[in-house]
Amino acid sequence: MGRIDEHVGQVLIDEETLRARVVELGEAITRDYAGRAPLLVGVLKGALVFVSDLARVIDLPTEFDFMAVSSYGNATKTSGVVRIVKDLDLDLTNRHVIIVEDIVDSGLTLSYLRRYLQARKPASLEVCALLVRGARDATALDLKYIGFTIADEFVIGYGLDVAERYRNLPFIADYLP
Ligand code: IMP
Ligand code: MG
Repeated sequence: MGRIDEHVGQVLIDEETLRARVVELGEAITRDYAGRAPLLVGVLKGALVFVSDLARVIDLPTEFDFMAVSSYGNATKTSGVVRIVKDLDLDLTNRHVIIVEDIVDSGLTLSYLRRYLQARKPASLEVCALLVRGARDATALDLKYIGFTIADEFVIGYGLDVAERYRNLPFIADYLP
């Protein structure tokens, strides 16, 4: 029994494409934050794989922190409620903070996080999202770095789960319920 089962659909973004885009994002961050030490705030658990790959491309002194928020439970649609499950360990005061997210769907999780982190008085606060759903208004969401824009399908892999499964797929695929 491997990690692929009947719920794993078409591969939307393969390993090589993911790697190439993550390298581009890391290089962009390296350029934009030259002379500074960014603090990456990964949103658990979905951003775990992405932040780990991204951080290794950023050629700057870099620190990590993590938050865990829950908005979905085990369902594949939003509950509309964001709850902090794990808070920050580090002080954000005067830090250049980059929120690293797996996917921005409604933007609810992100707008909550942005307000929460902004209140901790960082020197700057930007967002790096691996995926954004195409129907969303990316400008209104104010995402500085976007990996890929995807259509409306629910996706799994590279950190993204359904009921905690499929996070270890090295690619992003359609989920077949
Ligand atoms: P939002 O608050 O609606 O933007 O939802 C964002 C969160 O929902 C993400 O951080 C994911 O954890 C989860 N999510 C949204 N779409 C998907 C998906 O297609 N696959 C897996 N998780 C998703
Ligand atoms: Mg999730």
